[in-house]
Amino acid sequence: MKKDIKILGIESSCDETAAAVVVDGRNVLSNVIASQIDIHTKFGGVVPEVASRKHIEVINAVVAEALEEAKLTLSDIDAIGVTYGPGLVGALLVGMQYGKALAFATNKPFIGVNHIEGHISANFIAHKDLKPPFVCLVVSGGHSFIVHMEDYGVFNVIGQTRDDAAGEAYDKVARAIGLGYPGGPKIDKLSKEGNPLAIKFPRANFHDDSLDFSFSGLKSAVLNYLNKMQMTGEEINKADVAASFQKSLIDVLVDNSMKACKLKNVNKIAVAGGVASNSSLRKAMLEEGKKIGIEVLFPDPILCTDNAAMIGSAAYFEFMKKRTSDLFLNAVPNLKLGER
Ligand code: KG4
Ligand code: ZN
Repeated sequence: MKKDIKILGIESSCDETAAAVVVDGRNVLSNVIASQIDIHTKFGGVVPEVASRKHIEVINAVVAEALEEAKLTLSDIDAIGVTYGPGLVGALLVGMQYGKALAFATNKPFIGVNHIEGHISANFIAHKDLKPPFVCLVVSGGHSFIVHMEDYGVFNVIGQTRDDAAGEAYDKVARAIGLGYPGGPKIDKLSKEGNPLAIKFPRANFHDDSLDFSFSGLKSAVLNYLNKMQMTGEEINKADVAASFQKSLIDVLVDNSMKACKLKNVNKIAVAGGVASNSSLRKAMLEEGKKIGIEVLFPDPILCTDNAAMIGSAAYFEFMKKRTSDLFLNAVPNLKLGER
C-alpha cells in the first residue's frame, strides 16, 4: 500500500504567520494562520520590520498548534516545505530559518516553495480531482498572472500585469476613498450598494493576442475623478466609485482569462490568490465560463488568502518530482514564477 506523504508547510512571506499539515498534497489535517492585519491596519499597509518581528514572536506556537491539531509529532512528518519567495525578505527569512532548523534537527527533506505556486496549488486542495492541464488566474496583493499549468510543477506564464497587481489597485483605491487597509474586502462589500455603470473608468487593452494586464491607468483615473469632484465641490458617491472601479478591473480579468483558455484550448480555469475571494469576480467568472463552456474553479476564501496548507500542497508536488532544496537555500524576494 502506498504510504501517505505528510508535509509540514510554513508560510511567512508577508503579514500572515502560518503552518499546516497536508497529506498527499490534497488533504489538510491542520491549517493555522496568525494574521497581523490588526497591527498593520493602523499604518495603512504592511510595515516590513514590524511583520518580521511579529513572525519571530509567534512562529513557534503556530507550528506547534499545526502539529497538535493534526494529532502528529514532528517524527510523523515526511518533509518540510517553506515559502522562500517572492515576498518581504525579512519576513521570508523567519519562516525559512525556522523550517531549515527543523529539517536539520530532524534530518527530514527541506523544500523551498514559491509563494505564487502555493496559491495555485490551493486549487488541488479545494478540488480533489483537479489535474493539469488547466489555466490559472492568480490575483493577489503583489502579483497578477495568467498561467498555463501544463503539468504538475510546470508553470508557464502567458499573461501578467505590466504595473500594479490587482489587489494593489484595490488597496490603493480603497485608501483614496477612505476605506482603510486591506481594501479589497471593503470595496467588495461597498460595491454591492453602488452602481457599476455609474462612472466609466478605462480598461487597458494591449494588442489582440496579449493577455497582459495594466491597472495603474485605472487607479489614476479613479484618483483623477476624486480630485475633480473635490475641486468642483460635487458630492462623491463612494459606493458608485467602488462598484465602477471594480467592474473595470473585473471585466479585464474575465476577458483575458477566457481568451487564455481559448488560446491554450483548455476548458478549465482555476482562480487563486487573495482577490479570488472577491464575490463579483467569482460571479462574473462563473457566468462567462457558463456561456462559453469553461469550468471555473475557486478555492474557499480561507485557501485564497495567504496560508500554509497551499505551501504544503505545492511542496508535495515538488517532493514527488524529487525536487528538494539544500539548507543553503536563501530567501528570494523577487522570485519568478516557475523559476528553479
Ligand atoms: O494573496 P494575498 O492574501 O496576499 C498576497 O500574496 O499578496 O492577497 C492579498 C490581497 C490584498 O490586496 C487584498 O486587498 C486582496 O487580496 N483581497 C481582496 C479581497 N480579499 C482580499 N480583493 C478584492 N476582494 C476581496 N474580497
Ligand atoms: Zn499571497
